[in-house]
Amino acid sequence: MTDVASDIGQRGVQALRCPVCSAALDIVEQGLRCAHAHRFDRARQGYVALLSGRGNRHRSDTATMVAARRRLLGAGLFDPMARALARRIPPEAAVIVDAGAGTGHYLAAALDAAPAAVGIGLDLSKYCARAVARAHPRAIAVVADLWEPVPVADAVADAVLSVFAPRNVPETARMLAPGGSWLLVTPNPGHLHRVRADLGMLEIGADKLERLHEELTAGGLHVRHTESVTAQAPLDAGLLADLAGMGPAGFHRTDDELRHAARVLTADRATIDVGIDVTVTVAAATPA
Ligand SMILES: C[S@@+](CC[C@H](N)C(=O)[O-])C[C@H]1O[C@@H](n2cnc3c(N)ncnc32)[C@H](O)[C@@H]1O
Ligand SMILES: [Zn+2]
Repeated sequence: MTDVASDIGQRGVQALRCPVCSAALDIVEQGLRCAHAHRFDRARQGYVALLSGRGNRHRSDTATMVAARRRLLGAGLFDPMARALARRIPPEAAVIVDAGAGTGHYLAAALDAAPAAVGIGLDLSKYCARAVARAHPRAIAVVADLWEPVPVADAVADAVLSVFAPRNVPETARMLAPGGSWLLVTPNPGHLHRVRADLGMLEIGADKLERLHEELTAGGLHVRHTESVTAQAPLDAGLLADLAGMGPAGFHRTDDELRHAARVLTADRATIDVGIDVTVTVAAATPA
């Protein structure tokens, strides 16, 4: 975590809540503490775990998946999407939450677009939290479960990012400040379609966007804007294996299997053009 004694650290902590009782948190020597004496130590790697202790049933990204994601994002394939997100961040934003932040890549792009903002990167994976802690000087890294009460205060977030991540509609609506935006990135059916099947990646349902909009409306949000982002980039076998390994295929295929599948794919071509095809949906609270 950013040094909690710093101005940014203190502002970030003000936006956080105890995952057990939802009380405000104070900075204490080892980490954070609420008025009911629930304590959360700061890890040596710079993050704090705000978990209720009720246990979680969900799989979060492993160290191998996080390393693959970092290499692939570093190669720039998803940069057009990061730029589309950054354009939607109000420059005067004070708090930006990235829910399911992964390596913190998109949170960092959003923070660059809002020079005074503090960023809170939430992820269930401690490997992701370690990466988020290093992603940007104004990023606060928090291990949190998006399927539990999210340890962020009511109405504090000027923007919430959900990029290929689990989305908890009521909790996001609760966190959003008046006028704030939820920026959701979801894959279109054409996303990476040339390589999905060969690399064991999940199918994308054709009605996914429609279902998302229904879910948002049912949760008291309305869609302010949608934007399709498409881009093409050549990837070699190593990056193709990373592309699959950073997602759900990384849970059910070994690294060797993915590298073999990627080499077979590229056997007669040095590179394969991979197309990203996503929609950025911007949602906000329905005006009263
Ligand atoms: C497909 S990755 C996307 C990461 C990042 N937004 C990106 O696009 O690079 C999904 C992320 O959600 C996290 N995640 C999965 N279940 C979660 C949960 N219940 N609570 C918080 N994070 C979760 C994973 O650890 C992973 O980092
Ligand atoms: Zn508490």
